[in-house]
Amino acid sequence: MHFKIAFIGFGTVGQGLTEILLEKKDMLVEKYDFHYKIVAISDIMKGAVYDENGLDVKKILDLVKTGKKLDRYPNGVKGMDSTATIKETNADTIVEVTFTDVKTGEPALTHIKAALDAGKNVVSTNKGPVVKQAVELLDMAAKNNVHYGFEGVVLAGTPALNLARYTLAGNKITGFKGILNGTTNYILTRMEEGMSYDDALKKAQDLGYAEADPTGDVEGFDALGKVVILSNVVLGKNLSWKDVERQGITEITREDVEKAKAEGKRWKLIGSAEVQSDDSVKAKVWPEKLSLSDPLAGVCDAINALTYYTDELGPVTIIGPGAGRRETGFSLLIDLLEINRKSTEKTVIKKVA
Ligand code: HSE
Repeated sequence: MHFKIAFIGFGTVGQGLTEILLEKKDMLVEKYDFHYKIVAISDIMKGAVYDENGLDVKKILDLVKTGKKLDRYPNGVKGMDSTATIKETNADTIVEVTFTDVKTGEPALTHIKAALDAGKNVVSTNKGPVVKQAVELLDMAAKNNVHYGFEGVVLAGTPALNLARYTLAGNKITGFKGILNGTTNYILTRMEEGMSYDDALKKAQDLGYAEADPTGDVEGFDALGKVVILSNVVLGKNLSWKDVERQGITEITREDVEKAKAEGKRWKLIGSAEVQSDDSVKAKVWPEKLSLSDPLAGVCDAINALTYYTDELGPVTIIGPGAGRRETGFSLLIDLLEINRKSTEKTVIKKVA
């Protein structure tokens, strides 16, 4: 497939994907017949640029990495806002990577609806719209014969959703439990080594793990969003963010961490959901003091882990990076490759017919 890509938002994750696309350009062509041009970028802070023939990706990355605005790019149309970029450019695929609001889903929800309505594919790591309206947006994509991919909303590029959707298909999944936020796991790991909470949070921000507003991480809202998404997309329920009990890690002190260590235990922020006998679901995000023999206790730094409880296999666990520039950027490539695969299948079917 020949993608024409537009980015809505161009922060850490968008830049991470762009680096991967640039470095893997030849491999993507050779291995997957995957061709692309990035035709537009619109970012509320960095400005906007559009060239229907494709932007010079290296020049774009050089500009943003040196803190310059996109209107310093030598050619192209400047200043288009997100709506104009979605509707008026020749992009066929929109990468939505603006900031996350798990309560309203905005502004990403509006962006995604506009793109699907205009018959454009969307790939996004934005949790807000999936928390709010996953089923509606997937229906909208199907009706418009386009794809809405959001693999990265849980466990970044570690394929937690595709595992449930494809590889575990045929199982009844009755619940899940895991470490679903990279920032808090990173902070707890550093605190156990003696670092202060504030220094550990600052490092997590520098490393690109934290949300634009890190309150979402440390107060448990990010993990809550992921619990809602997994409950709705994997367990087939219909939760909203208000249905999940929540506590973050802000009340855990260095003393608590030291005390747990002396007891042979470790604090972890755990997200879980379990389908009940009346088919309702009990979901929560809570700090737990785990014994070191618990497999989740050994999952440190920004690594995440997720166990699905299945009827055929019992517990099945996936462990891998849950946050980060390249790690989350890569999740968008997973979605783009799926669009590419579907398009290739359609071409083969047409040829055979
Ligand atoms: N802020 C999130 C985290 C990013 O730390 O896990 C990935 O969703």
